[in-house]
Amino acid sequence: MIASSPDPLAPLLALDNLRVSFAIRSPILRRIKMQVDAVAGVDLAVAPGKTMGVVGESGCGKSTMARAIVGLERPTGGSIRFAGEAIEDADANARRRLARDIQMIFQDPFASLNPRKTVAQIIGEVWDVHPDLTPEHGREREIIRLMERVGLSPEMASRFPHQFSGGQRQRIGIARAIALRPRLIVCDEPVSALDVSVQAQTLNLLAELQQEFGLAYLFIAHDLSVVRHISDELAVMYLGRIVETGPVETIYQQPAHPYSIALLSAIPVPRPWAEERPPRIVLEGDVPTPLAPPSGCRFHTRCFMARDVCRSESPSLRPVAGRNVACHFAEEALTRSAPGADA
Ligand SMILES: Nc1ncnc2c1ncn2[C@@H]1O[C@H](COP(=O)(O)OP(=O)(O)OP(=O)(O)O)[C@@H](O)[C@H]1O
Ligand SMILES: [Mg+2]
Repeated sequence: MIASSPDPLAPLLALDNLRVSFAIRSPILRRIKMQVDAVAGVDLAVAPGKTMGVVGESGCGKSTMARAIVGLERPTGGSIRFAGEAIEDADANARRRLARDIQMIFQDPFASLNPRKTVAQIIGEVWDVHPDLTPEHGREREIIRLMERVGLSPEMASRFPHQFSGGQRQRIGIARAIALRPRLIVCDEPVSALDVSVQAQTLNLLAELQQEFGLAYLFIAHDLSVVRHISDELAVMYLGRIVETGPVETIYQQPAHPYSIALLSAIPVPRPWAEERPPRIVLEGDVPTPLAPPSGCRFHTRCFMARDVCRSESPSLRPVAGRNVACHFAEEALTRSAPGADA
């Protein structure tokens, strides 16, 4: 019998119609219970060793999606598959493997590090949970190696988190995240809280580690230039849904969803004369509350292209010009975002 080898093109992580809802009390009448659909049916695939960038305005569900992937939120619908296996069906053994294979790095490295533990204890904790994965040369030597690998002096191993700068604290978080040799790291705005120069160093470190360990990243960020720099693929989220996803350069050069067009038109360009680009589009109004999302296409209340059908029919993701877009008029949007076009 021929053993089947895993398909190299199969996604490492696949979200299929993922939903995460929260039951809350009405902000106006406290006795009324309501439901927030923070993640409202997301399809997404992350390839092994690649980076999927995720962008979208505050409150669109990025962190909730990230937390569901690492098991910190319970999905209310759909499925999460890792290496072909559905996470929700995982038995105890599979769960332990997942807890090793999927790690997370948080925005605020201070809040995610226990202030009463030393760096050595913080990193070493991972082997309390997975003693079978303790390296042969022992914890101590491995902690030294990890600290050196992320650019921290091992002499600082007995210090506490508050004795480090923001950038150094993020390196502690990264050392802890790679200690078990995971296959995927979910990064929720890992550099947003850092100074610009420290951001670049941290991003370089993440890129090196990706090469070295064949890591895949799901990389959430507010800064669109950072996302372009670090990602292979991109997912643009709006109110709990993905409105456009595909190769990062395909979307940056010519977005096909009106929301992506507006979002990307706001990026400052370092050399404006070198790149022909459509004029900036400023979106009117705030993001609607996910407590009462608009009917039809959730973006229609702010869309500069909206027509009747957009108010009644919710568009699904469909392939258009090398990416997937959820817009009834994606072809028309593409012509508007063409270099040199007048939006
Ligand atoms: N535990 C919770 N209980 C109730 N509502 C929640 C909870 N967590 C998140 N939400 C709501 O879910 C929606 C999505 O929140 P989420 O934090 O995922 O957004 P985000 O895209 O990460 O935003 P940001 O860019 O500000 O980090 C928001 O409306 C938020 O208020
Ligand atoms: Mg968030």
